[in-house]
Amino acid sequence: MRVRVEPAARLRGEVAPPPDKSVSHRAALLAAMNSEPVRIRNYLDSRDTNATLEALRALGVIVESQPDEVIVRGGGLRDLPTLDEPINVANSGTLIRLLPGWLAAQEGGSWTLDGDESIRRRPVDRIARPLTMMGARIQATDDRFPPFKVRGARLRGLDYEMPVASAQVKSCVLLAGLLAYGDVAVTEPLASRDHTERLLARGRVGIVRGPAENGALRVSVSNVDELEIDDIEVPGDLSSAAFLMAAGVLVRGSRLLLRDVGVNWTRCGFVRILQRMGGVVIGDFESPHAPDDIPAHEPVSDIDVTAGPLVGTVVEAHEVPLAIDELPLVALLGAFAEGRTVVRGAGELRLKESDRIALVCEGLRDLGADIEATDDGFMVEGTGGLEGGGFDSRGDHRLAMLGAVAGLASRDGVEVEGMDSAAISYPLFLDHIGTLA
Ligand code: S3P
Repeated sequence: MRVRVEPAARLRGEVAPPPDKSVSHRAALLAAMNSEPVRIRNYLDSRDTNATLEALRALGVIVESQPDEVIVRGGGLRDLPTLDEPINVANSGTLIRLLPGWLAAQEGGSWTLDGDESIRRRPVDRIARPLTMMGARIQATDDRFPPFKVRGARLRGLDYEMPVASAQVKSCVLLAGLLAYGDVAVTEPLASRDHTERLLARGRVGIVRGPAENGALRVSVSNVDELEIDDIEVPGDLSSAAFLMAAGVLVRGSRLLLRDVGVNWTRCGFVRILQRMGGVVIGDFESPHAPDDIPAHEPVSDIDVTAGPLVGTVVEAHEVPLAIDELPLVALLGAFAEGRTVVRGAGELRLKESDRIALVCEGLRDLGADIEATDDGFMVEGTGGLEGGGFDSRGDHRLAMLGAVAGLASRDGVEVEGMDSAAISYPLFLDHIGTLA
């Protein structure tokens, strides 16, 4: 679907961004592992998170989707049925990397996981490696990609050092650790989002976090017979709200109120970058916790955004995992800022729903930006704005929304190819923009 987004005179009003995608996936998976039914309020109704509910249904979990809550009735941690048909994760990288952590611990079970064209280009060797070390058997296409087969086993303990910071890999190992016969710990080189740890702490799982060498974080988890998760309330998605924040800052004369957004410190890297660039973004953002303190809740705040001038900034590697999905927006903001904006240490962006370094640079350059790709990031010179033109999202939801925000802030408007992919994470995106414009 091609949509033309005209420049906005100004954006005004308030919106509640959609429920958090990361938390929704995790809430559904952990609820399914619970012995008692779990109510999830404010579950995200989107293509990605509905793929998780469908996968759980295929595994025999009873999932009742009601307008304002999802009720998940699982059968506990063990005895998932083997399936002949592949589990279809659609476009969801989180589902294809988290679910195998649970499947790998089902002794004697076997499953194939597959998804769309984009998922078949995304590496799963990053989870295959630790799961194999724990005793599972994994067969991936070309040893690296979906479709791939997981054969469950009696898992042993593991002390795993992740080569790159990834919340998905960390979560996969922690889920496997719940069922392993032995101690399981995972060390991440840099902090990444900690929703899994918080939910496990809520489920009365013995989970311990502490500093490791060179600023790394080590998380260990104890095996359990059952989870005891109470009802879960999903906060608004900071990553989706980020598109509205960028639009609110860039479109002259704008003033927005974003309601009930999750402000977990490990998700607010983009806010800190935007504030450093001079963006007026006000909210009750969470402060960092001591490494050994795992809160059992997700903080929420309203966020007030006002348009204003920006200056360029440098985003360093340690900030990357905390703003990974919002870095394309930093490129857009950089095109409007005074001076140069640089992002480094973000090679992971090439492995997302698309190669987001290549496509962001090509796409924004076509709209008039002075931007260059590097191996692990990009460099953009502020030129005071963008002219406009055509922007092909290539089916990547975050690029589609990036193109639309560029259109609102541009001089001539932007025609976004593949706008429908926004439904992967933010189905009401265009409606929300419409109410604000
Ligand atoms: C996610 C983690 C991030 C992020 C993705 C969602 C998650 O991936 O890019 O959109 O829910 O854990 P990595 O942490 O694997 O980089």
